[in-house]
Amino acid sequence: MIRFTLNGKPVQTELPDDTPLLWAVRDGFHMTGSKFGCGMGLCGACTMHVDGDPVRACSTPISTVAGKSVTTIEQIGEDPVGAAVQAAWQKLDVVQCGYCQSGQIMSATALLRSNRTPTDADIDAAMAGNICRCATYVRIRAAIHEAAG
Ligand code: FES
Repeated sequence: MIRFTLNGKPVQTELPDDTPLLWAVRDGFHMTGSKFGCGMGLCGACTMHVDGDPVRACSTPISTVAGKSVTTIEQIGEDPVGAAVQAAWQKLDVVQCGYCQSGQIMSATALLRSNRTPTDADIDAAMAGNICRCATYVRIRAAIHEAAG
């Protein structure tokens, strides 16, 4: 039995210890905003926060989040920084196909929590692990500056 907090609520699961967090959240708790891209920790589509830090949920065993707090795109709008990021994403119409965008928003929120005035270089470094096949990178960078205010 693994117990953790998911989007502010205590949850538990009987899934095997090595089950990827992504599948536990998507299939076990039916929160499907976090996406499967590569399954190898390389694309960032699955990004969630564990105790506030961005992680690749596809390659995070569920056992490693025992006793921790997991936040997904479904809840990030409850965070003031997350809400500002989502508002900027909408204002600047960042999304094209949308598949990678929940992961992009989770990484952008983590960046802005740790650095309220990121430079372009800071943004590029923090977002380098989030791949967008539609190449929305210019709008993502602008939206992060917008959210930074
Ligand atoms: Fe997890 Fe690509 S699906 S990093």
